[in-house]
Amino acid sequence: MKKTVLVSGGAGFIGSHVTVELIEAGYDVVVADNFSNCDHTCFEGVKKITGREDIPLVEMDFCDAAAVKKIFRDYPIDAVIHFAAYKAVGESVEKPLMYYKNNLLSFMNVLEAAQEKGNFNVLFSSSATVYGEPDKVPVTEKTPRKPAISPYGNTKTMCEDILQDTVKASHGSVKGILLRYFNPIGAHPSALIGELPRGVPNNLVPFITQTAIGKRECLSIFGDDYPTPDGTGLRDFIDVVDLAKAHVFAVTRMLEGKMKKDCEIFNIGTGTPLSVMELVKAFEKVNGVKVNYRIAPRRPGDIIAIWADPTLANEEMGWKATRSIEETLAAAWAWEKHLAGK
Ligand code: UFG
Repeated sequence: MKKTVLVSGGAGFIGSHVTVELIEAGYDVVVADNFSNCDHTCFEGVKKITGREDIPLVEMDFCDAAAVKKIFRDYPIDAVIHFAAYKAVGESVEKPLMYYKNNLLSFMNVLEAAQEKGNFNVLFSSSATVYGEPDKVPVTEKTPRKPAISPYGNTKTMCEDILQDTVKASHGSVKGILLRYFNPIGAHPSALIGELPRGVPNNLVPFITQTAIGKRECLSIFGDDYPTPDGTGLRDFIDVVDLAKAHVFAVTRMLEGKMKKDCEIFNIGTGTPLSVMELVKAFEKVNGVKVNYRIAPRRPGDIIAIWADPTLANEEMGWKATRSIEETLAAAWAWEKHLAGK
């Protein structure tokens, strides 16, 4: 029988890519979103890519416990992938309560509903932010977590703990997987879905594409005096389609009863570091465009260097990142041009 997956925050950047991959893998998907940080563009894109006009969309806020219980009653869901959360690091420093309230409450409501339903699977979208500035790179799942620098980061650490405690207390009735994403970038090759930042982008790639298209004057490269080969930060940039596929592997692992523990953790990255400067240069080369940039002071709170050791996800889940940085950056540019109507 076809299994059904609820994707909270399913109309956003990562959620929409995950919805596409789930549908293409044969799952039924229920998308739920409150559209607080996105519009209907990506949901419409998902329908076009999959050729499915009938994907259920529920406009709801996961902080509303009654609404969460209702969606669990209304649909025959077997698992939930929880994305619905605020994600701007800087904003979280200014509005910590807004972040704690939204990100923790929404997840606790999901877990409560999962617990009530029983025999349920929860996949949580965590982040490499939980490792802070690691003492050693690449990081494995055993690398110790560090105290979070921002309230946003802290919500990821806290949600990881909340899931682990809930799984433990449920004695096998609720199972969980935590995926720790490194730096998701790019867009679907169709250019019908991608990242839609509101206002000035915080993240590197949307800032690059907006500068290349002329929406922003100049990209600031935050720091070129780090102790790295070219002085700019090192990251593990993971293609969003590869990342989305990791969710399909994880959900299937849960639903097919292949988990080795009731709560598992996987790093989702390529395993290959790339510097900020290398990324800018690669973008220019593959797309044949100039990116106007300048070197700016370091950005407070930035990590110097972090990349994943994805061995566990590769060997245990059978998932591996396959898209090249060139494909990824070409897709990011195609999406920006699509948005500009070019
Ligand atoms: N960068 C620039 N200029 C920009 C934007 C970013 O030089 O305009 C640099 C940053 O300094 C950093 C790299 O590009 O070295 C990547 O920055 P992003 O903002 O794209 O990503 P981060 O690595 O800072 O953020 C990621 C996740 C967050 C998470 C954070 C924790 O996107 O969700 O790691 O460190 F919280």
